[in-house]
Amino acid sequence: MRSVTVALPGRAYQVDVGSGALAGVGEGLDRLGSGRRVALVTDAAIARSFGATVAGAVAATGRTVELLPVPSGEASKSLRELERLYLEFARLRLDRGSAVLALGGGVVGDLAGFAAATYLRGIDLVQLPTTLLAQVDASVGGKTAIDLPVGKNLVGAFHQPRWVVADVATLATLPPRELRAGLAEVIKYGVIADAALFALLEREQARILAGEPEALAEIVFQSCRIKADVVTQDEREGGLRAILNYGHTVGHGVEAAAGYTGLLHGECVAIGMTAAAAIAVRTGLLAQAEADRQRRLLQLYGLPIAIPAELDGEAILAAMRLDKKTRDDEIHFVLPRRIGAVEIGCRIPGELLADVLEELRAP
Ligand code: GLY
Repeated sequence: MRSVTVALPGRAYQVDVGSGALAGVGEGLDRLGSGRRVALVTDAAIARSFGATVAGAVAATGRTVELLPVPSGEASKSLRELERLYLEFARLRLDRGSAVLALGGGVVGDLAGFAAATYLRGIDLVQLPTTLLAQVDASVGGKTAIDLPVGKNLVGAFHQPRWVVADVATLATLPPRELRAGLAEVIKYGVIADAALFALLEREQARILAGEPEALAEIVFQSCRIKADVVTQDEREGGLRAILNYGHTVGHGVEAAAGYTGLLHGECVAIGMTAAAAIAVRTGLLAQAEADRQRRLLQLYGLPIAIPAELDGEAILAAMRLDKKTRDDEIHFVLPRRIGAVEIGCRIPGELLADVLEELRAP
């Protein structure tokens, strides 16, 4: 087992990464001093595969644990599911000493996280992410949210978990396409902060795509280390944390224009990183050879680098303007300077952006 500490003053917590780590959740709750009542929020599919392992580990410590399944899919990040969870928490008589465990991908983590952030003005949250995307990104850093019909993640709170357990054994059941989509975020960490991680991804492609637990544990650990470091320096995204949005500006635009259906989040981030690198080359910030290196790595992992032909550039731009990271209608970009370093707050003229979107369109 390897551990990373998110060293926030007064609210420091550990991210444990390892194969089979979920079996230790009960003892971990003892260490945290959690109360007797535990709500285990999980998505319906995960409940079947890992629900019993976690519930058993918690029950073995004498706690009462109830599984609260939510339907799989983004539609569950809704006010309706949130209300249902609050009512379940009340039925279970959760109190200020109780813990909410979020077992699943980003949807469960965000929804259960926001419920924990607001129920009784905030109770303990333990993140047990079971997708690569959630292990390397959503479960660490305290962002929780639900969606509104007009946009994703519009209602949320910062609520740091007390503990994160990233059990890479859970990734064995992940569809290969979802594993690859999660790898887009890992590649992102390499570009924004760590050329050695980028080189590791170049070297170890076969082991990673084959799902070798040690290879996966290494990249999850390295990603969490980088995220923990960023969040410790800038919890509320006042500055540095924005580097984590690399690839997400155009990525979110593509995701919204595609109606959150055809493409996975990580796939949109891959397209967004390609766009950001192309912009950086045009503005003279990045050498073409570095942009090519990023493109090759994305392709090596089977990730898309072109905007689907059926998507309208105007619709992507309109969606980008609606993004909550947009301020006063100005779209700010995170752009790479080289593999391992980026700049935040780069203002890009609309025509250049429209040009790049056109250039990236699939023939
Ligand atoms: N996913 C970006 C962040 O946590 O800030």
